[in-house]
Amino acid sequence: MKLLSRLQLLAVPATGLSLQHPFLREPNDANYIRDVKVGQLNFLHTTDTHGWLGSHLLQPDYDADWGDFVNFAADFKRNRLDKTQDLLLIDTGDKHDGNGLSDATVPNGFETTRIFNEQDYDLMTLGNHELYLPENSILEYSTATSAKFKDKYVSSNVEFINDDGETVPFGNKYRYFETENSKIRVLAFSFMFNFRRFNNRTNVVPPMEEVSKDWFKQVTKNYNEGKVDLILVFGHMPVTDLEDFEMVKLHRHLRNIYPDTVIQYFGGHSHIRDFVILDGKSTALQSGRFAETVGFLSIDNVTSEDPQYFRRYIDFSKRSFKHHSQVSKLGVRSTKGNKISERIKHLRKQLNLDEVIGYVPQNYYMSARPVQSEDNIYHLITHKILPRLESHHTNNSIGRYIMINTGAVRYDLYKGPFTLDSEYIVLPFTNEWRYLELPNRIASKIEAYLNKGPTIASLAPPHAAAPYVANSLAICPIIRDPALTEGYTTTDDGGCKGDDIKHRSQIQYHIPNVVQAAELKSTGPDDVVHFIFYSFLERNVLQAVNKIVSDQGNRNLRYDESSCLNYGGSSTKVLLREYIKEISR
Ligand SMILES: *[C@@H]1O[C@H](CO)[C@@H](O)[C@H](O)[C@H]1NC(C)=O
Ligand SMILES: *[C@@H]1O[C@H](CO)[C@@H](O)[C@H](O)[C@H]1NC(C)=O
Ligand SMILES: *[C@@H]1O[C@H](CO)[C@@H](O)[C@H](O)[C@H]1NC(C)=O
Ligand SMILES: [Zn+2]
Ligand SMILES: [Zn+2]
Repeated sequence: MKLLSRLQLLAVPATGLSLQHPFLREPNDANYIRDVKVGQLNFLHTTDTHGWLGSHLLQPDYDADWGDFVNFAADFKRNRLDKTQDLLLIDTGDKHDGNGLSDATVPNGFETTRIFNEQDYDLMTLGNHELYLPENSILEYSTATSAKFKDKYVSSNVEFINDDGETVPFGNKYRYFETENSKIRVLAFSFMFNFRRFNNRTNVVPPMEEVSKDWFKQVTKNYNEGKVDLILVFGHMPVTDLEDFEMVKLHRHLRNIYPDTVIQYFGGHSHIRDFVILDGKSTALQSGRFAETVGFLSIDNVTSEDPQYFRRYIDFSKRSFKHHSQVSKLGVRSTKGNKISERIKHLRKQLNLDEVIGYVPQNYYMSARPVQSEDNIYHLITHKILPRLESHHTNNSIGRYIMINTGAVRYDLYKGPFTLDSEYIVLPFTNEWRYLELPNRIASKIEAYLNKGPTIASLAPPHAAAPYVANSLAICPIIRDPALTEGYTTTDDGGCKGDDIKHRSQIQYHIPNVVQAAELKSTGPDDVVHFIFYSFLERNVLQAVNKIVSDQGNRNLRYDESSCLNYGGSSTKVLLREYIKEISR
């Protein structure tokens, strides 16, 4: 079989794949839901839930909680599938860091892990957020070895170092099983992207190194093409990766071993809805982030020469769940989830998450509005929040710049009550302020220097979500219907109709690495100003300053750590809280 790369594929029409939705025309109706097409083998996929098990209280499009999702999966299986069809439930990691429900406990994720594990996943693994802190890895390892998941938890290239200092696989290296009804023989692997900042109780082996090991050669030899119907690769790895092409490389390797077998991928980490056609018998699905999406995929005629694929992104809402599981039509509902919803409500109370601090008058977006817009959260921060910073170094006759890295903000700020939970969601980290005394001719150039730097990742703190920039809305028509709610219009290899609900298209704008408030008393190049910044940025700021100094021809001047002083004052998180309290009075 001739293998095409993703880029080659984009240039040629895919043949033999029936990815298009059966409806040619759709009613222009806000209540219209694009259906799913079930097949022989069906998948429901979640990824990057980051603790959002308690639903999105201020976003009606994602109003379902984890209990609703548990009911949905059970209802879907019962109401939509016949006795020749199977359903597999998959998650690809990153289960905390992002919501009060997970992050207000010690260790974080302690309660949400137990709630998450109520879902009857068939295949489970971990993400990089389970690997920053040893306590998170230890907690996750207890899931991997639990009675419920010990056969279902797979990690082909992550290792755990147990209490005896012994290195063991983080769960199973692989899993081989037959599906219940259609008796499809599945060989499953799970690969984490080549993540390097794991804690010292864990180890991540680069995927291409792992597949060259003996165990992998042995397994793929034992379960050769005659003995498997489907290779299933799920893991914490983006399905589109135009820098390292990790999944494409992995696929090339697997396709060599299995030239004619269906190879299905499920990915995560970059927090987008995405679907990639790798070749005529291989596709990859990625299902968004933050419990906003349940990804659906079906493969029909799995063992034929012409398997048919269907993908859909289901909004994480009661409305979508009800529709796709046909509970309204059939009246048969599950109830296990109701108890889980109760448990979540109780936990919210216990953690005081709904304690109201104030009211937010409008939505403020990270990337759905240009950074210069008054509806952008960075505009709010640089114009209303940072100017409130005060310490005993503040001197009204000296101009100042106050800089933050954009990665410090993790989610949009929505209109409505601002609670302790909102704080965990939007701006969870405290920060220390440092400052430099600089002539304005240097200080005024730092922001531009840092923003033309190549990668955001090096500036983002470990917990920051990968920023997402829609591949290209230009390919799919932008939907402007004011009757629809603002949300995803996904462009992927399957076309423009992947989303189950038609949304008014939310466009994503570029977010710079850093933003700043500038309060200048005068703009003379030699006027001394205070350049104030997050301590997290010290290395980057010093590098920028020294480069600017040498570009200006001053070879003898160098700034180092001893030039940076503590500024004092409240963290951005506290400044935001106080601002919201004040405007709510
Ligand atoms: C891991 O790092 C911590 C400090 O970060 C240290 O106390 C501990 O001894 C280290 N453990 C191992 C196994 O290296
Ligand atoms: C695919 O499977 C369906 C039954 O699920 C069958 O009716 C159809 O003929 C098959 N198509 C091909 C091309 O094998
Ligand atoms: C503020 O700065 C000016 C100019 O450098 C200086 O003369 C003045 O003493 C400072 N005031 C305080 C309170 O530090
Ligand atoms: Zn994530
Ligand atoms: Zn991740």
